[in-house]
Formats: sequence, structure tokens, C-alpha cells
Amino acid sequence: MPARDPLAIVREYHDQTKHHFNRFARSLGYLDWATQPDPFRSFDGCRRIDLVEPLRAAASVEHEGGTASWRDVAYDELFDQASPRFPLAPGLPAVSVFLRYSLGLSAWKQAGPSRWALRVNPSSGNLHPTEGYVMVGPGVAGGQAGVHHYAPDAHALEERCALDAAAWARASAGLPAGSFLAALTSIHWREAWKYGERAFRYCQHDIGHAVAAMRMAAAMMGWTCTIVPGWTSRQLASLLGIDRNADFEGAEPEEPACLMLAAPRGRSALTSAVRDGVHVDAALAEAARVGTWSGRASRLSADRVHWDWIDAASEASREGQAPTASAASARARPVAPPRGTPMPAAAVFLQRRSAMSMDGATTIGLERFAAMLRRLLPDAGPPFDALPWTPRIHLALFVHRVDGLPPGLYALPRTEAAIATMRGALNPDFSWVRPPGVPDDLPLFLLDAADCRRIARQLSCAQDIAADGCFSLGMLAEFDAALAEGGPAAYRRLFWETGAIGQSLYLEAEAAGIRGTGIGCFFDDAVHQLLGVADHTLQSLYHFTVGGPIDDPRLTTHPGYPWESR
Ligand SMILES: Cc1cc2nc3c(=O)[nH]c(=O)nc-3n(C[C@H](O)[C@H](O)[C@H](O)COP(=O)(O)O)c2cc1C
Repeated sequence: MPARDPLAIVREYHDQTKHHFNRFARSLGYLDWATQPDPFRSFDGCRRIDLVEPLRAAASVEHEGGTASWRDVAYDELFDQASPRFPLAPGLPAVSVFLRYSLGLSAWKQAGPSRWALRVNPSSGNLHPTEGYVMVGPGVAGGQAGVHHYAPDAHALEERCALDAAAWARASAGLPAGSFLAALTSIHWREAWKYGERAFRYCQHDIGHAVAAMRMAAAMMGWTCTIVPGWTSRQLASLLGIDRNADFEGAEPEEPACLMLAAPRGRSALTSAVRDGVHVDAALAEAARVGTWSGRASRLSADRVHWDWIDAASEASREGQAPTASAASARARPVAPPRGTPMPAAAVFLQRRSAMSMDGATTIGLERFAAMLRRLLPDAGPPFDALPWTPRIHLALFVHRVDGLPPGLYALPRTEAAIATMRGALNPDFSWVRPPGVPDDLPLFLLDAADCRRIARQLSCAQDIAADGCFSLGMLAEFDAALAEGGPAAYRRLFWETGAIGQSLYLEAEAAGIRGTGIGCFFDDAVHQLLGVADHTLQSLYHFTVGGPIDDPRLTTHPGYPWESR
């Protein structure tokens, strides 16, 4: 592979991992069951701390609302962050609830003798390349402050590093009271095992889903949570101990993704801590450097295939010495009030599933459709207030069955500026009509009235779910502009933003009594051709479908953890 500048590598990786009608991106082409990776990593030789069962966490919460608790917070209330009803107090219960409702197991599925776990955060192929970490102060997880790996199978923490108390005290002085840090990494091999070279993209989608899941869990707790910019990949790797080669000998490496800060209330305290991130980073890095590390990463597969282009894209897109994330405004826009029965957020998170097939019949009303789309706008509140950079993802929608809207191809530019960008980049023959009945504050435009079911199916790798839902969509990135502004690291962030939009759609669909499915398999340039995009101004990065699901009666469902009743 020619050695070139990181931006050129990222661009080349992107282009050569496109699926085409006559050629899929490179992969083995078959599943090698002998090397199937273990979905759960553990660190042997660490102190293990059982997390609090969320039901018990409820009992330990003090509030003025009688017997109600954070578990009764309605999904729709998550978007009114001004006054959370039942804020959870800092401590182990809060960390437990945060992890359980973002990265924990949502269910076990069984078909005959096969049994597999599903998680609150979805993952392409259910392969779950994402690992989670938290960094907490003294007294939260036993005695000392520490860096912990989250083991979702056991809902437990594995203490990788006991932090030096004095160093932690210096580091935490820059953090809001009661807050803790969370971080995500990717094990590319888990995803590459099935998807080959395109897997790096899917790992980034999954990070975006997980970031959004964490932000939403924090919102349910009455907390706030955001990505902390300003950390280089190298600094993050050493904070998490994933650069400790001796601890990973023989084990599949973890690639650092992002650091997040979760804080009880007080968005302004969080914002200033994030703004002063460089100071926080130096003190934290020092606390980890002088800490006491333990544990060895488990090996997930007997053997693995190396995909040079994944390594190249990963290295090229790391946050370098001068991270370029630009702060985006996070004004909360009042979102349309809930329709129908308000479902508890906790229930929505745990029952979120991907529809494996859709009925081709269910419709939704225009009002509900518009309310769902409004929640996807960058200033709608969580989860998008966790992404501290310029929003760059916009939607091209195939509307199939929305009562009150003609079927057809639509555009939803998610920022004011993107209206002109999309108009300039898409087919000049598109009509850009504001359909009657669409609320004034929703920038939805009809491009072409048509029955799009066949084309939507064809473009999404001939998957029926793209045609059989109420609507499906492609997420279009301002590709050139994002890379010009943020450098090669912006490549990952584009996928993270699509993952956050996907997570919102999953939850919105669930709250509306229907269901969504992420679609990572689509024919990239065929989508661009349909839209009239001839260059890299816009690139479709992720597809999604929402509709009436058909359940598979052969599958049985069991709770995520033994202590949870159905
Ligand atoms: C990034 C991403 C891409 C996905 N792509 C597809 C797809 O192309 N087709 C499909 O049927 N499901 C797809 N899925 C759904 C996953 O298979 C599903 O999330 C996984 O099996 C876990 O199930 P759950 O979502 O019900 O927890 C995708 C999910 C994600 C997060």
C-alpha cells in the first residue's frame, strides 16, 4: 500500500470500501466459524466490582416525588432537560444505571440450542466491536479512584488502574462535582471477521450509536453527558491502558475512539470543563501514568485475518496532536409534545430492537413523522448535544407510507447552511417543494413524488426492509467540507454522527410503537447517482428504515440479566 498523507488514505479507504452492484467491498466472502470472535472481552487478574442492580439503584435515590423514580421518567421527558424530575445522586448506583441503560444487555435471544445476547446499543451483525470504560473518583467503586473496563455480560467493572489519590485530586479539580468519565474503544477484528474491509466504517457507526445511548441514559438519570474534545488518540489510549502492550499480548488490540464526561445536572459546568479540556487532560493523563495497573486482556479468537486497509484508515484518522473538533452550539429547541401514551424511557431503551422484516402495510401519520424528524435536528437536545462539532449529516428520505404525504424522495437538510449545499449538489431537476401540512420549523422538502419502494430496496443491497417500512433514508455527509474543516479525524466523526441519528431513529420508532433497523449495506455510488451527486460534496454513509415489524415466532426472549424479570 503506498504511504501517503493521512487525508489521502482516508479518502481512498472510503472509495475502495464502497459496495457496487457488480462488486462488494473486499471481505473473505464466507464466515470462518473457527475464528468467530468472543463478543465479551474480560481482563483477567483485575479486581471485579459488581455493579448495582438498577432496581436497587432506584431505592437509593432520594427525591420528592413519592414512590416514583427515574425509572418512571417518560421517554418524551428526556427532551426537556431544564428540570429533570428525579436526578440520580452521584455514586456507584448512578454509574450502574448509566452503563446498564447504554451498553448493557437488553435481552437474550434463543432459537433451538443457539443463544445470543442483544444490547442496548445496536451493532452491525450484532458483533459488538465497542468496549466501554469509566474513570471514577474514590468511594464510587470501592476504595480508590480508578479506570475500569465495563463487562456487560456480568454487569460488572474490572479495575484496570487504581489511580494515585493525589494525582486524581488534581485531575478532578477541573471536573464538575460528582461527574465521571466514560470512554469507548473498538476491536476492529470483531467486525472485520464478518465484513472485511468495510468493517472500519461499521465500527464507527457503532461508536456513534453507543455515544447516543450513553447520552440518552444520562438524560434519563437527569444528568448531562458530552464527548470531551481535545484528546489525541494516543493520550486516550494511555489513559485507558490499551497501549500497554504487555497487557494485550496475544489479544486483539483496542482502538481508542472518544472520551465522554457525564455530570449530574449543570450543563454550564460541563461545558466549561469541556472548554478547559486541555488542562483536565494533562492532569488526568498524569493520574493514569502514575497509577497501579492490573489485568490482561482476554483473547477473542484463535486466529485472525489482518486487513491492512483497516489499519491504515484507523491510523490515518486518529486524533493527532492538534485536535480540530470545533464546538457546535447546543441550543435546545423545544420539541413537539409527545403524542399518545408516554412510555418510560427505561422501557424504550431495553425494548429497542432491529426489525428483521417489515409488514409492508403499517402507516404513520404526518404529525408523528414530523415529530420524529424534528428530534433528529442538531439542536433538538439529546443525544446531539453530546457531539461538540459542526453537524454535517443530512437526510435523503424515501417516503413510502406516511398518511398525508405523497410517497417520494425527500430531503431534510439538518442545518440552515445545508439547504444551499444540498440544492447545489443534488440533481438540479429536483423540485424542492415544501409539502402542505409540514410544520414550518421542519426543513423537509419534496424532491420528487414517486413510488420509491423498488429503488430503495435495490439501493440497500436488495434488502426488503428498505421498501417495506413507512420510510427509509440515506444519511448524506458533507464529506469534503468536514474533512477540510476537521482533517482526517473528521472521517470517524461523520460516522459517529450518523450512528447518533440512527440511535435516535431506533428510539423514536420504538416510542411510536413501530420499529427501526440500521442499514450498513447499500450501494454507495448508485445512491449518489440517483441523487445526482457526481463528486464528494455529499457521500451517503448509512441507511435506515422505520416501519411495522414482523416478529420471528421461532425466537424466544429472556431478560438481559437473571435479576431482571420480564
Ligand atoms: C451500523 C449498523 C448497520 C446495520 N446494518 C444492517 C443491515 O444492513 N441489514 C440488517 O438487516 N440489519 C442491519 N443492522 C441491524 C443489526 O443487525 C442489529 O442491530 C443487530 O443484529 C443487533 O440487534 P438489535 O438491534 O435488535 O439489538 C445494522 C445495525 C447497525 C448498528
